[in-house]
Amino acid sequence: MFEIKNLTAGYSDESAAIHSINVQMPSSEICAIVGSNGAGKTTLLKSIMGLIPSKTGSIIFDGEDIAQWNSEKISRSGIAYVPQGRMIFPYLTVEENLLLGCEVRKMNLKKAIELGYEYFPDLKGIRNRKGGMLSGGQQQQLAIARMLVVEPKMILLDEPAEGIQPNVVQEIGRILQKVASELNVTVLLVEQFVSFALNLSHSYYFLQGGEITSGSKITDDNRKGIIESIKL
Ligand SMILES: Nc1ncnc2c1ncn2[C@@H]1O[C@H](COP(=O)(O)OP(=O)(O)OP(=O)(O)O)[C@@H](O)[C@H]1O
Ligand SMILES: [Mg+2]
Repeated sequence: MFEIKNLTAGYSDESAAIHSINVQMPSSEICAIVGSNGAGKTTLLKSIMGLIPSKTGSIIFDGEDIAQWNSEKISRSGIAYVPQGRMIFPYLTVEENLLLGCEVRKMNLKKAIELGYEYFPDLKGIRNRKGGMLSGGQQQQLAIARMLVVEPKMILLDEPAEGIQPNVVQEIGRILQKVASELNVTVLLVEQFVSFALNLSHSYYFLQGGEITSGSKITDDNRKGIIESIKL
């Protein structure tokens, strides 16, 4: 179980960008937090990663409250983060980008790279191409693959569908479902593309003006109704 309790965080002492956030999700599931521009999605992920300080509240991961840990300790504990806009290294090749992910963990490089290519086979054919030459969808795949090779327990994704053509978005969604179910990775994503996010998730929360206004489990019976009810 991953749990956020009463989390408030922001960029200044006077004001908070997210208020009293509560999120609960079982391990190895996919949870989507949907919200429009400025709702606080990136702020929430940054505060989970310890990149901005939490003012109040707790974040329970693997039985420990990580809310006051620094970002290095949080990533070492098994949470990986793909920031908004992907942030791959443009002058390194696909494979060098993947290797850089592994260097951090001093792991078996060959095995790690093969895992990346197993889940993202399209990357194998372009392994020697520079990151900066890739399409948006390929960059997003590389960013997720680079995170996967460190064998995280949980991944945080900031708008993985942003600026990517629809068929590649669907492919990324399919791979994320495979990663969650086969590798037992817990996936928390934030999105504005509501139908994409809710079609691949087991639960959702709606973030508006820095607060969660609704949320529930998603089943095949209620999925369509939830997607139609959310207007960003
Ligand atoms: N570095 C910062 N300093 C001060 N305020 C910030 C900073 N970054 C974001 N904010 C403010 O915090 C609020 C939430 O922003 P956030 O980036 O979390 O939104 P978001 O939901 O990720 O939006 P988008 O969908 O556009 O990425 C906004 O009002 C924004 O102006
Ligand atoms: Mg954002």
